[in-house]
Amino acid sequence: MSLHAYRASLLWFPDPASHHIQFEQDGLLVTERGADGVTRIKAIGPYDLLLAEYPQVPCTDWRGRWIAPGFVDMHIHYAQTDVIASPADGLLPWLNNYTFPQEMRFADPAHAAEVAHFFFDELLRHGVTTALTFATAHTASVDAFFQEAQKRQLRMLGGRVLQDRHSPDGLRDSSAQQSLYETEALIGRWHGVDRLGYAITPRFAPTSSEAQLRGAGELAAQHPSVWVQTHVAENADEIRWVAELFPQSRSYLGVYEEMGLLRERSVYAHCLHLDASDRDLMAERGAAAAVCPTSNLFLDSGFFDFQLAQSHHLLHGLASDVGGGTSFSPFHTMHAAYTVGRQSAGKNGHSLSAEQLWWLHTAGAAQALGLGGVVGNLAVGCEADFVLLNPQCTPLMGRRTAAAESLQAQLFAMIVLGDDRLIERVMVNGRTGA
Ligand code: GUN
Ligand code: ZN
Repeated sequence: MSLHAYRASLLWFPDPASHHIQFEQDGLLVTERGADGVTRIKAIGPYDLLLAEYPQVPCTDWRGRWIAPGFVDMHIHYAQTDVIASPADGLLPWLNNYTFPQEMRFADPAHAAEVAHFFFDELLRHGVTTALTFATAHTASVDAFFQEAQKRQLRMLGGRVLQDRHSPDGLRDSSAQQSLYETEALIGRWHGVDRLGYAITPRFAPTSSEAQLRGAGELAAQHPSVWVQTHVAENADEIRWVAELFPQSRSYLGVYEEMGLLRERSVYAHCLHLDASDRDLMAERGAAAAVCPTSNLFLDSGFFDFQLAQSHHLLHGLASDVGGGTSFSPFHTMHAAYTVGRQSAGKNGHSLSAEQLWWLHTAGAAQALGLGGVVGNLAVGCEADFVLLNPQCTPLMGRRTAAAESLQAQLFAMIVLGDDRLIERVMVNGRTGA
């Protein structure tokens, strides 16, 4: 029998384009394994109503627990797992002093495999089932990443970093042509294999020659279903540097647009210091912003403006940006987004609601990645990647959620008090994730 049912409280988004949450206190979730080996949601609803339709289906009883969509992290660096919590004066010294030396180690396939294994253990422990990920400027780092993701049957996105200038020996591409050739080979090897997707990954404008950026743009045009990921407008020194290197461009974002890198499925990390034209351009092209609040606070980069993103209809969602970010936990990221959201809301405005925050890290992030209706939700047809939450995971969490007078209040308590202890189990492709 390829059907399986779960009885639990259920949290999901009936309209994936809206952050309105549907909550079933006593719900039934039915999954079905397809001929393609992918398990999807077959039905969701109140236990009493649905049971009659699926009387013979084996049912796991998880009453007292909540099933929620697996979290989607729009921007993370797996090769920076060992960089997390390295303090610096700002982005550029942080890159030079900690990040580049660690990333150099990924030329060694054994090191890459060991870190990839640890990284996915950590990601899953925190309930993240899909992530758009930077590897390093070594093919071996990408192979290690996808091999591990494939073993675990994950829907996972990633790519080889392109950086052919202003980078140390051991991390600098020998030539733009070679790096693009390797990228094309990796697309052929991994994109669309099982649930894996490739992302063309220029690190950021300062570390790529014009030839490399242009070549990346050409590959992006030839492979429209492939993702593009990079960084933009994160830090004042970085922005000044880009203006010196590309004096003819209207803005930092303008550099990427001139190189053909602004399109659907292109994901820009940070987007802190954009102007109105930049935001309009991104929205018009269907490019998305990956919002990284713990990283922005840790590296003192600035505050993402959620209000302007909303008013310009800019696709956006949440991301950890480990190792600039300080936690793998989606709860920590949502909490930081709440804090940052206060800045753009102004003194009298409201920050983001608990429902908005949760959506921005699940169905909203999936939508921004072009994976709406595929992951990040429990709607019928979505892939069966979900988490089991234990609202009694700590004495304080149990006390606070039990006393909460509304769903919003319960969600808010989980966001502020939550960490890996709240994730009792993670399900990947309909099976316990490991
Ligand atoms: N800009 C270029 N590279 C990086 C990186 O690794 N992390 C962050 N946060 N910003 C970057
Ligand atoms: Zn980053």
